[in-house]
Amino acid sequence: MAQLWGGRFTKETDKLVYNFNASISFDKRFYEQDIRGSIAHVTMLAKQGILTDEEKTQIIDGLEGIRRDVENGTLEITDEYEDIHSFVEANLIDRIGDAGKKLHTGRSRNDQVALDMKLYTRDEIIELDGLLKEMLTVLLKLMKENTETYMPGFTHLQKAQPITLAHHMGAYFEMFKRDRSRMKDIYKRMNLCPLGAGALAGTTYPLDREYTAELLGFDGPTLNSMDSVSDRDYLIELLSAMSTVMMHLSRFAEEVIIWNSNEYKFVEIDDAYSTGSSIMPQKKNPDIAELVRGKTGRVYGALMSLLTTMKGIPLAYNKDMQEDKELVFDAIDTTKGCLALFTGMIRTMQFNKERMEESARHGFTNATDAADYLVNHGVPFRDAHGIVGRLVLYCIDRKIALDDMSLEEFKAISPVFEEDIYDAISMKTCVEMRNTIGAPGKEAMEKVIKEEEAYLASE
Ligand code: ARG
Repeated sequence: MAQLWGGRFTKETDKLVYNFNASISFDKRFYEQDIRGSIAHVTMLAKQGILTDEEKTQIIDGLEGIRRDVENGTLEITDEYEDIHSFVEANLIDRIGDAGKKLHTGRSRNDQVALDMKLYTRDEIIELDGLLKEMLTVLLKLMKENTETYMPGFTHLQKAQPITLAHHMGAYFEMFKRDRSRMKDIYKRMNLCPLGAGALAGTTYPLDREYTAELLGFDGPTLNSMDSVSDRDYLIELLSAMSTVMMHLSRFAEEVIIWNSNEYKFVEIDDAYSTGSSIMPQKKNPDIAELVRGKTGRVYGALMSLLTTMKGIPLAYNKDMQEDKELVFDAIDTTKGCLALFTGMIRTMQFNKERMEESARHGFTNATDAADYLVNHGVPFRDAHGIVGRLVLYCIDRKIALDDMSLEEFKAISPVFEEDIYDAISMKTCVEMRNTIGAPGKEAMEKVIKEEEAYLASE
């Protein structure tokens, strides 16, 4: 049991207590960030004359050696240390002797762990953003290729009006674009350096906090040492943003599952992204989409868990806060994994375009347009609504689509109909007439695609 604080104690810690308290099994994940933070700290200590240049060089060489050996596998991070901070410090002292004992001057594990977690999270936010951008790139490609792929748009999961596949994919583009902007906001707000806050009340050493902040790529130091060591808001924000990413993925997953069903057959998931059944030879299941939908619960759980952990904690640091790590690590791993897999699945998925168009043709998705036709010929909208309602009933009885009716049949219900009704309610017209910005018409879609292309090129 390697601890940093034995001096005041007369008895060994109980083994169960030690294990309960230790965090090495999960905080070893940010050994690199811990070392990076320590290097910045001693660089600043030397600049301020708190350490000699000689001590600084010895410590930095030692720390870099530890980093190298962990990376090449010759130094293993084992559970005999309480946490990653103890591991690094103990190994440093082993390697360089007394100078190593000066590493922790003007620092507490409280500001150290706050820094490590921020450095780790910052790197992960950049990765999450990259994965979201990849998803957007795949979606934009689908949008470009499918401005004339007609399909039903749904409300209440009932066919409503015709749209295009480009338009449908465009909806998800907007969602994941907002997710990216949330990541960017969080990064900007959290990017202040807690190092130098000490245990809670700063230190008596003349630290240069601006300098360490700058060395570590922060926009500046945090402005209250109590808050610095006990702020976990940025993790809650990140969990909330990741929950929203997962919510979006889960909605998308649900649609893929429906589209992939035997009844819809709008899409075929690539063999590489589907699984079979051990008993039913005909099955090809959308397990990846289902797992993504299922894992959403884990990420929501992490958000609720950290919110609850934080709600009753008096200032400043309390050990409860150690609970942030496993939750956030798991949520980040889950969200990143789901994003990567889902993007791959969408990229390789086949869209059954004829089937989509056929489905749009057979769900009376052009009924609104038939009513609009009458309105354009002077019939009040409420009357037009009633007339088209009767047309629909007539077609349902005969199991036909509106476009399958003869002109005589149209005229029998309303004499206003003329030959041009067919063109007015064709799938193409229904979509192409909708050209206000944000609508599915090709012209409107192409404007949006241009804008999104410029956005992806710029950030
Ligand atoms: N493992 C601890 C955590 O994650 C590090 C900080 C320990 N500080 C302390 N005062 N015990 O929160």
